[in-house]
Amino acid sequence: MDPLDRSSDNVLNRYTTRWFEGESLVNRIGRTLCLAECVSRKEFFESWETAKRLRRQMRGGTILELAAGHGLLSAMLLLLDDTSPSATLVDTSMPPSFAKIYAVLRERWPQLSGRLNYVEGPLEEAVADSHSLVVSIHACGTLTDRVLDMAISAGCRVGVVPCCHDYKRCDTGGLTNWMEGSLAIDAMRVARLRHQGFRVAALNIPRDITPKNHLLLAWPEPKGPVDEEPPCQAETTVEPL
Ligand SMILES: C[S@@+](CC[C@H](N)C(=O)[O-])C[C@H]1O[C@@H](n2cnc3c(N)ncnc32)[C@H](O)[C@@H]1O
Repeated sequence: MDPLDRSSDNVLNRYTTRWFEGESLVNRIGRTLCLAECVSRKEFFESWETAKRLRRQMRGGTILELAAGHGLLSAMLLLLDDTSPSATLVDTSMPPSFAKIYAVLRERWPQLSGRLNYVEGPLEEAVADSHSLVVSIHACGTLTDRVLDMAISAGCRVGVVPCCHDYKRCDTGGLTNWMEGSLAIDAMRVARLRHQGFRVAALNIPRDITPKNHLLLAWPEPKGPVDEEPPCQAETTVEPL
């Protein structure tokens, strides 16, 4: 393989384990997923680079992954930070890759057992609360806006990598004479979250993986005086990033 081509749709398999030498977490996960033989190189690096950046800024929380597909993002978030109790993955249909991925990861990391729950159904029916960490990679078009709506109404943290920007149905803010349409849509998403009282970080995952590389993180700003210290997490496992 060209080691720099992380955008490939080629599936990781038993013969590609040699690309993941060493004991870093990303290499251990990479080697393990090669055994599942159902994850593309792009999906792997996209999920990893998103999970890593999310966990640098957002620890803990019950994970709610929407338009989850293979669900790799949730698994990586749990492996990076064991203080999240569980993840619920929602998609209209669970792909066969989920079971294969979960099986190999659970074999290698038994602490994942029972902590990834897949729910088949529309994401509009999912329920978040203020302790949720709502995440989604490539919720197409307006689905990303529904993900943000959910975080706004629950008042919880959210991280999305948007894709398939729909210039007709998403809000461009009338800015398309000034900037490219997908940029305008994501800029309006940032403006909307800020207007709703969220703090926002507009980040990127590496462009060599996908040109759709915006990573939008948002936190509800605390409303009143904070009168409690956050719980001590000294007993929990947190992977260094
Ligand atoms: C581009 S895929 C992304 C999957 C995965 N997050 C990834 O990164 O590979 C979009 C996913 O959205 C799901 N989807 C489409 N409409 C949905 C809806 N209304 N509710 C939940 N999932 C939906 C599809 O089934 C598909 O798995």
